[in-house]
Amino acid sequence: MTHFILRGFGLYAPEKILTNADLEKIVDTTDEWITTRTGIKQRHLAADDQAASDLALEASKQALDEAGIKPSELTHIICATFTPDSMIPSAACRLQERFGITGQMCMDVQAACSGFLYALQTARGQVCLEPDSKVLVVASEIISRRMNWEDRATCVLFGDASGAAVLTAGQPGEGPEVLDVMLAADGSLGDLLTVNGGGSAYSYKLGEPVGPEYFVEFQGREVFKHAVRNMTEISEAILERNGFVKDDVDVLLPHQANYRIIDAVGRRFNIPEERVFSNIHKYGNTSAAAIPVALTEAVHTGFIKPGDLVLIPAFGGGFTWGAALIRF
Ligand code: ACO
Repeated sequence: MTHFILRGFGLYAPEKILTNADLEKIVDTTDEWITTRTGIKQRHLAADDQAASDLALEASKQALDEAGIKPSELTHIICATFTPDSMIPSAACRLQERFGITGQMCMDVQAACSGFLYALQTARGQVCLEPDSKVLVVASEIISRRMNWEDRATCVLFGDASGAAVLTAGQPGEGPEVLDVMLAADGSLGDLLTVNGGGSAYSYKLGEPVGPEYFVEFQGREVFKHAVRNMTEISEAILERNGFVKDDVDVLLPHQANYRIIDAVGRRFNIPEERVFSNIHKYGNTSAAAIPVALTEAVHTGFIKPGDLVLIPAFGGGFTWGAALIRF
């Protein structure tokens, strides 16, 4: 049986911070509305000359340093993102180029906010096929480029960031072990959360301005409802599949979309607030990057302790959702 060990974690958030007070000057909103509806106080924004692979490079360097693995030793680079540098090449190929290495299998995974778990599961598959694999699993998003800054219902929620981890085979006790990952999707609900522009269903002509479809659009209440239900159900399923009960969970570390969603999932698991990790107040929703950024902070600050069983549910556009169980 293969054991999947996470060797190191890293995160990067761009220097520029946009607070709720700053947003009050851009759209008709208030710090009070944003804080009470979402828990978000600020978000980071990439500089004009930064692309997803630039953010990914910083987070990945940290994760590789912590893992004691050189970039040239990597066998695979898997990047979760819905905001890659370009349609072609992938952000993973751009990242490889930035590292100055060649030869690795490089690919992007697009599963919106569930992207990191989808990438982690893909990495586990590669480690099963080739046990000597050293897989960089990174998520990087510059959502600010896909924000309609005139739409107060969406632009207050998101931020830019990157998070990374390195996965290899190993023995239990050598480091945080990914015990299981479960994934799901329901494409019939896809229209509830979209970034349609740029896709092949939409034709563009040179010189034409882009419309609102180029940016993130969603039906917030519907997304909210499905997020809570699906994250709860898949979390129950992964615990049952691995012979655990709710009380066995030491830390709940959900996707960071809205503090009210995080709180609702925590309540359904009877997990006290102090064992639910959230950093949404600092970063907003960074989509695929949210989970590795949260994991990195939770590990580096000692929120997660050796021996903890950590449950990680995610939900995003597609709809996609999933859960991971990690024993630290
Ligand atoms: N500032 C002030 N008022 C606002 C703002 C704003 N930024 N945005 C919306 N409003 C107004 C609306 O216009 C509406 O006014 P009305 O009643 O006069 O029409 C009112 O506030 C209430 O809006 P609702 O959408 O009903 O507010 P709700 O309580 O549902 O909260 C939110 C909205 C935060 C978007 C919530 O639904 C949510 O978090 N949804 C899920 C998150 C989401 O969709 N994330 C996308 C990524 S998916 C993921 O990551 C899981």
